[in-house]
Parts: sequence; structure tokens; C-alpha cells
Amino acid sequence: MENKDEKNGEQEQVVNPWEVSAKDGGKIDYDKLIDKFGCQKLDQSSSELSHVKRVERLTGRPAHVFLRRGVFFAHRDFDDILNAYERGEKFYLYTGRGPSSEALHLGHLVPFMFTKYLQDAFKVPLVIQLTDDEKCMWKNLSVEESQRLARENAKDIIACGFDISKTFIFSDFDYVGGAFYKNMVKVAKCVTYNKVVGIFGFTGEDHIGKVSFPPVQAVPSFPTSFPHLFSGKDNLRCLIPCAIDQDPYFRMTRDVAPRIGYHKPALIESSFFPALQGESGKMSASDPNSAIYVTDSAKDIKNKINKHAFTGGQESIEKHRKYGANLEVDIPIKYLNFFLEDDAELEHIKKEYGAGHMLTGEVKKRLIEILTELVERHQRARASVTEEMVDAFMAVRPLPNMFD
Ligand code: TRP
Repeated sequence: MENKDEKNGEQEQVVNPWEVSAKDGGKIDYDKLIDKFGCQKLDQSSSELSHVKRVERLTGRPAHVFLRRGVFFAHRDFDDILNAYERGEKFYLYTGRGPSSEALHLGHLVPFMFTKYLQDAFKVPLVIQLTDDEKCMWKNLSVEESQRLARENAKDIIACGFDISKTFIFSDFDYVGGAFYKNMVKVAKCVTYNKVVGIFGFTGEDHIGKVSFPPVQAVPSFPTSFPHLFSGKDNLRCLIPCAIDQDPYFRMTRDVAPRIGYHKPALIESSFFPALQGESGKMSASDPNSAIYVTDSAKDIKNKINKHAFTGGQESIEKHRKYGANLEVDIPIKYLNFFLEDDAELEHIKKEYGAGHMLTGEVKKRLIEILTELVERHQRARASVTEEMVDAFMAVRPLPNMFD
């Protein structure tokens, strides 16, 4: 779509809600993305005023690894959320998932694991949008199949440990209407066709369902879209944790919000979880060997890491001992950066592997242990999610204890 980015036949990096690809097989340039989108870099420094330190002070707990290690690296107005919270004002969290596949991969879990931490640390309510309508339109799934996938995905989301007394999960096909729909129409009236073409790159061949979808993802940012939760709290602020490919939706939302009398939602945005084959894009649901799925067995995980993980190790042991591994491109190291919580152990591995004292096989072995534990824990949690629990999370109901 974004063919504006194609210069002299060279493919520039493309990041939008439907496509993530780096420039000619290279890595995603996140600094460039921040510039292009106009968001801000999160301050991860040890300064007392950095975002990470402020979050730690305000919540009284250590920052999540995804925050400490720069997995979440960009934001819009995160300071406003922290300032308000410091004054004793609350906010709510909004995130979502487009149910395009049965099984989630590790990359899909990243925003949910982080959102769970934010919910616990700040003690705030959360709405989770399942855009079954979006996937029905983009992936050519039937209405019924999209709805079925939404419900299946809800089980994986619930398995991440969300607190039912603070969490409302909804599917667009079931929930859109009433106050939510009124906000959609208010948003739609503020966005011209030229504007959505500019933001999303729609063409004359795209069907009008796509063109009219953005307000659906926009309005969960406004508390009045959830009268059963937030009635009388029209000024409640919203913080959206998401991967940075969702930024276009919220750029549009933030542009419109003040014009219809709402706060702009704040955002905290993550980089992509890299594919096993290397860091040029995000993991793809269409290539099973590019990703570790939450349904993979211990054996699958072992095979995938051993066979398909791109590494920065040298081609022979002699060379490896002499030159060490190139950590910049090494996928096992990147994955450990996400999921090995112990900072000291991670530093140790990086140092020893980078110096050639540790071999690729040893690093992979540790990664396999960690991912197997994570995936097996998730599978146990998911197996205990019943249909009744899904109904309970998705029931349109007040949450009287949502700020406790
Ligand atoms: N469009 C997103 C997807 O395809 C789903 C989504 C809806 C979302 N609302 C969101 C993601 C808010 C992050 C934050 O996955």
C-alpha cells in the first residue's frame, strides 16, 4: 500500500497495521519510525525523572522487563497519564486483538503480558477489544468463523491472568451499538476520505468496509463508549499499550478526540517480536516455522529453535572461540532479552557468548528451557479457562471494584 516509500526501486521499510517489513532484508529502524509517526521515545535511563523510574516510584514495584529493556520503547502523552496518576486521578487501559488465527504465537502474547502487569501495578480497569469484524473484512473469513476465533482467542487472553473484577472483553460483532456506535459516528464525521487514504493508504479498489473500520478501533479510547463501566466518568483518561504498527489508528483518534470533547488517548508502544529467521519483520502467522506458538509442544520448541533460529555464532568452533558471537543479529539473545527475567544472568550470557566462551548450542539450550516453561505454563492456564469464564469476562456488566 505505502508505495510512496518506494524510491529508485529500493523498498523502504513499511510499517502499518497490515504490513511490517524492513528495508531490503535489514532490520526495522525504530528511530526512523518514531520520527515518521511523530511519537516520542520512552526514557529508560537511570535518571530519577525517566519514565521507567517514575513508573517504579508510582507503583511501588520494579518495572516489567519489557519496560526496563526497551521492548516498549515509544509513547504518546505517557507523561500526562503519570502526572494525573500522581495527582490521584485514575485512568483505564485499552488494548485489543484481531482474531485472525486459532493459535497465538509468542509475539501476540507480548502486549497482553505487559497489559496484565500494568493492570496489576496501577490497579486500573481494562477493556479488550476483539476485532472480529476487522478480520472478517481483511482476511476474508466468514462472520461465524471470525466470531469463533474471537472466542478462542479470548481464552488465550484470559489465560494471561487478567483480573475479572477489572476486565471487560468484548467482540465488535456483539458489542457495537448504543453509546459505542454514537461515538463511532461522531468520529466518522470528523475524518475525510482523503484523511484515511493518507493515514492508511486505502485505494479505490479497497471495499468500503475497510474505509469505514477505523472508527471502530478508535472509540474504545473514550470512556463514554462503555456506559456500564464508566458512566459519570466522562473525563477518565485512557492508556493504550500496543505494538507500534497500530499507531495509525490512534493518530487518527488523537486528531479527532479534542474536536468531539474527549481527552486524546495516551499510548505506550512496543517493537515487534522478531521471527526465528531474523529481525526483518514480525512473526508471521502464515509460516509456522517463523514462530513459536502457544500450542507448540516441548519437542516443537526444541526443534524450531535448534533448526530455524538465526544466530550470530561463527561457522566453526575455532572461529567462534576467536571472534565470539555477533549479538546484534542473534535471535536466541533477542528472545532471552524478552523472556529471561534475571538481569544478571542475561548480562552474563551476553558477555560470555559475545566473547566466544559460550557456544550457540548452550545459549539455545537455555532459551529452550525458558520458552518451554513459559508455553507449558500458558497451556495449563488456558486449559483451565472454561466457557463460563469466557462468558463472565465478556458479560456487559458494571465493575464496582475496578479501581481497588
Ligand atoms: N487491530 C488490532 C489487530 O489486528 C486489534 C486491536 C483493536 C488493537 N484495538 C486495539 C490492538 C487496541 C492494540 C490496541 O491485532
